[in-house]
Amino acid sequence: MKNLLGCNQFTKESLNELLNLAEKIKKNPEKYKDALSDKIIAVMFFEPSTRTRMSFESAILKLGGKMIVTENGKSNSSATKGETLEDTINVINGYADALVMRHSLDDSAEIAAKVATIPVINAGSGKKEHPTQALLDMFTINEKRGKIDGLKLVILGDLVYGRTIHSLLELVSLYDNVEVYGLSKEVFELPEKYINMLKDRGITYKKCTSFDELPKDVDVLYHTRIQAERFEGDLGKEEFIINKEVLNKFSKDTIVLHPLPRVDEILAEIDTDERAMYFKQAHNGVPIRMAVLLRAFDRDNI
Ligand code: NCD
Repeated sequence: MKNLLGCNQFTKESLNELLNLAEKIKKNPEKYKDALSDKIIAVMFFEPSTRTRMSFESAILKLGGKMIVTENGKSNSSATKGETLEDTINVINGYADALVMRHSLDDSAEIAAKVATIPVINAGSGKKEHPTQALLDMFTINEKRGKIDGLKLVILGDLVYGRTIHSLLELVSLYDNVEVYGLSKEVFELPEKYINMLKDRGITYKKCTSFDELPKDVDVLYHTRIQAERFEGDLGKEEFIINKEVLNKFSKDTIVLHPLPRVDEILAEIDTDERAMYFKQAHNGVPIRMAVLLRAFDRDNI
């Protein structure tokens, strides 16, 4: 059994293996239709979700698995009665063969894994990690470029509270000759600890203050929503908005990604541009999560 708690679990090799498995699944999903027919997966979401929960559910069904779901765990589970996360997990241990969980605590996945006797898959933990999102982001980038080495990545939006960014940086930093550029409002600049992590792994990070400072040939503009639910007060709106005019400053091969939901950071006017890949990216959540589930049960060699 294998947990997926955070992206620091991966090596370049194990990540490539998982991406290859997801590619095989995407090409031939039929082959895996009974792979988890003997398993019940608990899907517990203590925070809102559309894509992550529904693509996990789709992945479970496509693998022939069964599931028990709490989609509104904060208000509908015994958490409202004051039950600790540890006690909830101890109970789930007897009901399911694996747990997919989203929770607002940064260390929720680690807390769950400490008491779980079944594999735990982190579907988003506070502002810290969102490993399956980062995996599907990598899958999408690899699908477009054919490789990750040499990637020029721009991260935009909320680089402080955006867990998808934090997980993505862990994964891209496993590769060679990666360049990362940050473009955000000052209040949402990438925290020092991630800049140091990149530096320690030999990745160059450049903080920018306008679209014009970015190289024209960047591979990916990865935008994110200001995570207003994770801080007190009003820190204002996004200033760096991707519209037609902005996108046309970049090369024909520059793609736009976003974990979604978007608010106002990417205008709908670019949705029909083939470089706007966020909906395709969201669809890739299914094969990636199928691969993650197979891996959780050591069935990734099917
Ligand atoms: C992201 C999340 O939950 O962190 N959404 C997602 O899972 N695709 C991003 C967000 O909520 O802004």
